Amino acid sequence: MTRVRKAVFPVAGMGTRFLPATKASPKEMMPVVDKPLIQYAVEEALEAGLTELVFITGRSKRAIEDHFDKAYELEAELLARGKTALLELVKNIVPSHVNCIYIRQMEPLGLGHAVLCAEPVVGQEPFAVLLADDLMDVDKGTPSVTHQMVKVFEHEHASVLAVQEVPREDTKSYGIVSSTPWNNCSERVNAIVEKPDPKDAPTNLAVVGRYVLNSQIFEHIRKTGKGAGGEIQLTDGIASLLKDQPVLAYRFNGTRFDCGSKIGYLKATVELGLKHPEVSAEFSNYLNNRK
Ligand code: G1P
Repeated sequence: MTRVRKAVFPVAGMGTRFLPATKASPKEMMPVVDKPLIQYAVEEALEAGLTELVFITGRSKRAIEDHFDKAYELEAELLARGKTALLELVKNIVPSHVNCIYIRQMEPLGLGHAVLCAEPVVGQEPFAVLLADDLMDVDKGTPSVTHQMVKVFEHEHASVLAVQEVPREDTKSYGIVSSTPWNNCSERVNAIVEKPDPKDAPTNLAVVGRYVLNSQIFEHIRKTGKGAGGEIQLTDGIASLLKDQPVLAYRFNGTRFDCGSKIGYLKATVELGLKHPEVSAEFSNYLNNRK
């Protein structure tokens, strides 16, 4: 059984929901407290033991590569000033045994297309997909959401989608699945549809931004035409995959913040601010006492 070693981060999206903040800088670099969104996703993948990180980037996304690269001048300066704690923060984001690989998606043709761009690096291995917009927070001591899903994958040998129930009026923002029980921790997906209108949605069980997929997904995406929004959708590739092999829906243990929306981003900032060792006490005091 092949272990899951690879993670794909589609980061080529334009981030129109956060304009003007994302006019000249990538949405994945927006910080929640003191770390950019993409770093939360990368740390989640590292916690799951993944060692090959594949970023599907696009124009104006250079800051992401720089963020995971060595910053010589900054490190030398911090060292010279004796700021060792800060130095550790910038130095060890990605351990040396982990590889970061960058592939450019030259046209914004959709999430399915972005995932297909990873095929030359992923090859015939299973892999995780992490959408950095969805920040997944877990309690201390709980495995990361990707870690939980990798365990399900390695046990069941089937692709796994992270799901949660959403208000019915929101189905048009998500891939929506209908499923039947499979075992005590996951369900088998019978159908999946991208962004259905609430009146057409089969359920309100939504896929959120984590997937662990078998490499056969690539063949299925390749034969998928343009779908919702005129884009090549990962959801449509999965709809085709599940005709050939079981695909599982997994209700993860953790809290998802939709940082692709302003309100989700603000909630993440408040909740993670309240947990941050440096500011939690003062921030909590501020929130409790403000008029
Ligand atoms: C993408 C997927 C969608 C999924 C969502 C999760 O949509 O296409 O199926 O439910 O991510 O966040 P996007 O948010 O990129 O429009």
